Amino acid sequence: MTAQALIDTAQALVAGDKGLLAMDESNATCHKRFAKLNIPQTEDARRSWRELIVTAPGLGASISGAILFDETIRQRTSGGATFVSALEAAGIVPGIKVDTGAKPLAGHPGETVTEGLDGLRERLAEYAGMGARFAKWRGVITPGAGLPSRACIEVNAHALARYAALCQEAGLVPIVEPEVLMDGDHFLARCAEITEETLHTVFIQLRLQGVLLEGMLLKPNMVLPGQACPIQESVDEVADATVTCLLRTVPAAVPGIAFLSGGQSAQLASARLNAMNARFASRLPWALAFSYSRAVQQPALDAWKGDAANVGSAQKALVHRARCNQAARRGDYDALADAPKPG
Ligand code: 13P
Repeated sequence: MTAQALIDTAQALVAGDKGLLAMDESNATCHKRFAKLNIPQTEDARRSWRELIVTAPGLGASISGAILFDETIRQRTSGGATFVSALEAAGIVPGIKVDTGAKPLAGHPGETVTEGLDGLRERLAEYAGMGARFAKWRGVITPGAGLPSRACIEVNAHALARYAALCQEAGLVPIVEPEVLMDGDHFLARCAEITEETLHTVFIQLRLQGVLLEGMLLKPNMVLPGQACPIQESVDEVADATVTCLLRTVPAAVPGIAFLSGGQSAQLASARLNAMNARFASRLPWALAFSYSRAVQQPALDAWKGDAANVGSAQKALVHRARCNQAARRGDYDALADAPKPG
């Protein structure tokens, strides 16, 4: 695999106005979301849900790549196609989540380090053989009283860079995802401080470990006040703070930044991305795109409820959210028209 092939894939994933769809929830996370809607927490329900997504008519017009989970990349549609081939047929590049989850960080109560480096070279080779062209690894940074520790930021940045280097060796584009959580009551300024320190540390490690910046994508949080913070800044203030932080920390060689949604409502995730592109796109060195899970999937999951009779309406809801975020990439998202309807 040449460097140019990595660069081509990274650029393709953020080309034009498309973005990524994260559908890589672990079984535990998937079950949490199913449980709220009384959807059976079974392998068959998980497969049906993911089939609904990969076969949604027209999804490829707004989604460039989809991130699968280990179970999902091995599954097939009821028609017998692998999910990988169903995505390829829709013009969507298949990717794979390769971390094995955030585990308690020894000696640091309340903090985690993401695991999955052991055996990663072999797993990446297997996924590449199954058709994956990019990968994802999420490190979690938790704001709190006296948190995050410097240790937490360092170990997660180190692991992200080790993962990214192994991906590029295997010919897969690494999506590097350091997530500063929005849980808690911290102010936006605190999130800005933590995100800036985290991204700065991540890029030091990426450089130290020889990761080709042109052949990777960054998947950060937006700079937001904690969900329980009494002061919730406007859409434009969030856009300003986020772009300021990224301009300070993300080298221009990185082709694209694809945000996670992190628990924002579907509408806010679209509106904030829209504001960033509408206000700053012409001045930014990288594409600002999306790689949402909840902010694209949740309205569709609410519509599906595990009932085969609702597949069509759920697919419409999914494609609608993908199109809203596609419009946000152009700075064309109409928040008023998309406001949730009463009742
Ligand atoms: P959310 O958009 O729901 O935060 O998920 C993105 C993701 O991939 C988390 O790792």
